[in-house]
Amino acid sequence: MITSDLFGSAAHPEHRDETLCEGAVVLRGFSLAHEPPLLQAIDTIVAQAPFRHLITPGGFRMSVGMTNAGPLGWVSDRRGYRYDPIDPDSGKPWPAMPDVFLELAGAAATRAGFPGFVPDACLINRYEPGTRLTLHQDRNERDFGQPIVSVSLGIPAVFLFGGMQRTDRALRVPLAHGDVVVWGGPARLRYHGVLPLKPNHHAALGECRINLTFRRAG
Ligand code: SIN
Ligand code: FE2
Repeated sequence: MITSDLFGSAAHPEHRDETLCEGAVVLRGFSLAHEPPLLQAIDTIVAQAPFRHLITPGGFRMSVGMTNAGPLGWVSDRRGYRYDPIDPDSGKPWPAMPDVFLELAGAAATRAGFPGFVPDACLINRYEPGTRLTLHQDRNERDFGQPIVSVSLGIPAVFLFGGMQRTDRALRVPLAHGDVVVWGGPARLRYHGVLPLKPNHHAALGECRINLTFRRAG
C-alpha cells in the first residue's frame, strides 16, 4: 500500500541510506529538513566571499567556482593546494561556519557511523552545466580519522566514487538536491569526482548545483 510505504520510510529514514562500500554511505534527502536556513546561509557567505575560479598548481583554471566558510578554507594556486584561514581575494578571514552547517554535518556523520564530527572547513563548490571535477583524493587534511560530509543542492549530478587507486573502476552515483554522501574510515582516501553536469533547472537554485564539503582540516 502506497500510503503505508510513505509512512514507513518517514518513520524509518535509514531505509533510504545506501552503502557504497565499508565507510561510505549516501543519505538520500538528508539535508531537505534544513533547506531554508541552509540556502539562506549560503547566500550570506557568498555575499561576503564570492565564488571564484582557482588556479591549479599546474596552471589550469578550475571550472568549478569555489568559496569557503569556517576557520579554514581550501585554496589552490601555483604554490599548491592548502588550507588557509584568510580568503586571498579579500585578505579577511573566511565567513564563519553557520550553526545550520555544523548541525547538518554532525548529524549526517553520526548517522553514517562517525559521531562527534565537528568540521572546521566547508568548501562550497558551484557547478554549471558542462562543469566537472576530475577524480581526486581529499588528502590536504591533518587527520584522516575524520570523515568527509558532502551535501548536494540544486541540479542533479553523477558522483564518481572510485577506489584507492586513480585507475580503479568508479561507481556512478546519481545525486539529487538534498542528498548527502559521507565517507570515512577505510573509505576516507577513496578517489572521487563529478561527471560533467547536464543542462537542467532547479526551482530554488536555477541552472546550477552547489556542493558543500565539510572537513576537519586542522
Ligand atoms: C569534492 O570532491 O570536493 C566535491 C564533490 C561533489 O561536488 O559532489
Ligand atoms: Fe573531494
